Amino acid sequence: MRPGWLGKRMVCQPLRVDSRLHSLRCDMSAASLTPPHRLATARLVLRPAQPADAAALFSAYTADPQVARFMIWRPHRAVEETQAYLRACAEQWAAGTCFTDLLEEADRAGPIGAIALRPAGTSADFGYVLARAAWGRGLMPEALQALSGWALAQEGIWRTFATCDVANQASARVMEKARMRFEGVLRRHTVHPNIQPEPRDCRLYARVKGD
Ligand SMILES: CC(C)(COP(=O)(O)OP(=O)(O)OC[C@H]1O[C@@H](n2cnc3c(N)ncnc32)[C@H](O)[C@@H]1OP(=O)(O)O)[C@@H](O)C(=O)NCCC(=O)NCCS
Repeated sequence: MRPGWLGKRMVCQPLRVDSRLHSLRCDMSAASLTPPHRLATARLVLRPAQPADAAALFSAYTADPQVARFMIWRPHRAVEETQAYLRACAEQWAAGTCFTDLLEEADRAGPIGAIALRPAGTSADFGYVLARAAWGRGLMPEALQALSGWALAQEGIWRTFATCDVANQASARVMEKARMRFEGVLRRHTVHPNIQPEPRDCRLYARVKGD
């Protein structure tokens, strides 16, 4: 797997068509968005992913088939795969194409998940993943709401959105709780290889400036 693909898509749903259209329609460069290097919520700290996080992420979730089930990547078999992903994250942050933050609990050290923000023209889309041990406490809605709120407060960003497999009810709930609205089903949109090789239908949610 190419490092760029691995890194860019690790926590994100791919939106190749939308991104291309946006870059044709709009002159605003993706690199003009500069996310904070530390974003605190009530219970979380979001900070950029670093190559040094590989061992912690590998033991927390990148090798977990249940976590990877609805993702576009397969569970990592070795920590080197996680290292390659994190190197790609750092390169993409520097290039301004995809900003991947790791989530840590404010009162406990160590990454428990990741959220990626990908700007494209006047929009930004998100992908996210959380270690199983941290599921069910509303942590990802908290992270997504904070980061999409930050993005929508930036001049030039009007729309934030995310997608999930139609069978991924937990992720749909994350978007609803993060104040995104359901906009429809994108048919045959994304391959989730841990389920089947053919592209699957995905639900699309968005929050726009003023929502
Ligand atoms: C989707 C995910 C990020 C949810 O994050 P979270 O912080 O646990 O979200 P919440 O605590 O708000 O729970 C959301 C929903 O998950 C489900 N859920 C809660 N606890 C759960 C548990 N222990 N096991 C499985 N699902 C659970 C519930 O449906 C819940 O909705 P509800 O609040 O209406 O009951 C997390 O489950 C995850 O990382 N899953 C694997 C990766 C993934 O699917 N990423 C999204 C790709 S689009």
